[in-house]
Amino acid sequence: MDQAEKLRQLKKNLGGYEEVRKTPRVITVSSGKGGVGKTNFVVNLAIALAQQEKRVVIFDADLGMANIDVLLGIIPKFNLYDVIEGHKELNEIVITGPYNIKIIPGGSGIQELANIDSYRRERLIKGLKTIDNTADVILIDTGAGIAKNVLGFAGAADEVVVVMTPEPTSLTDAYGFIKAVSKYKLHSKVYLVVNKVANPQEANHTITRMKKVVERFLELQLDPLGYIFEDKVVNKSVMKQKPFVLEYPNSNASRSIKQIALNLIEGSYCPPRGTAGFMQRLIRLFG
Ligand SMILES: Nc1ncnc2c1ncn2[C@@H]1O[C@H](COP(=O)(O)OP(=O)(O)OP(=O)(O)O)[C@@H](O)[C@H]1O
Ligand SMILES: [Mg+2]
Repeated sequence: MDQAEKLRQLKKNLGGYEEVRKTPRVITVSSGKGGVGKTNFVVNLAIALAQQEKRVVIFDADLGMANIDVLLGIIPKFNLYDVIEGHKELNEIVITGPYNIKIIPGGSGIQELANIDSYRRERLIKGLKTIDNTADVILIDTGAGIAKNVLGFAGAADEVVVVMTPEPTSLTDAYGFIKAVSKYKLHSKVYLVVNKVANPQEANHTITRMKKVVERFLELQLDPLGYIFEDKVVNKSVMKQKPFVLEYPNSNASRSIKQIALNLIEGSYCPPRGTAGFMQRLIRLFG
């Protein structure tokens, strides 16, 4: 490679950061309260990142209500359980969505992760490694709250995004989640996204309030990643089972998401956590 090509490679790898990264950024998206917009955020962020030439994988890790597929209008035939049980290879359960994003349906496989034997563990790790080699970003959509499996995903990821809304109940619940991350020393920093805001002032107000309590009571850095406008195109797109960044690219909600994608790419670089792959870390945390 000549010098120019090397530089292009570096730039392509991680936006503004001149760092070659061999493993994907694994980002868990969680919340304290349910229904704050995590799944919509994950699906649309995945597409916005893919539009920025990132190779994106979504891991649908919501045990109770896995619905990444619903938002994309696709029906997975198999899930992680089939891989763990040896009926399928990981690449056979992966679904391809718009912009070539890949979706891994977790389904009942996630419960199985807690008591997985070494043979199955190796098979899973091997499968995930093939994904690792072909992805820049893995986004994990978890259920709400601080169930053990959710914290397992949060702990195994490189970065955690907490989604909340400006409602006071969302503040206390999001704080509860961040407190758990801090208590179990899963991360020293979490990102915050405020969804369903009426205007930027409301977003700033929410961020300030959250920052205040976090700084006062926890030893953890809270990093605002952006906000998303409350927008009726979100519901319309859910009904159509088509992501709003594709259906309504110029809507307020889509602009918000695209900004967050840029913030993620350019804003901060998070070094990979040790040499163990994501799946190894996950199984360790579950077991
Ligand atoms: N920015 C927004 N503007 C308007 N409505 C929104 C917005 N974001 C999400 N919603 C609506 O909120 C509802 C919940 O969204 P979503 O399913 O993404 O939340 P969730 O956090 O994944 O929920 P759960 O905790 O059940 O997994 C949906 O009906 C969606 O249309
Ligand atoms: Mg959801």
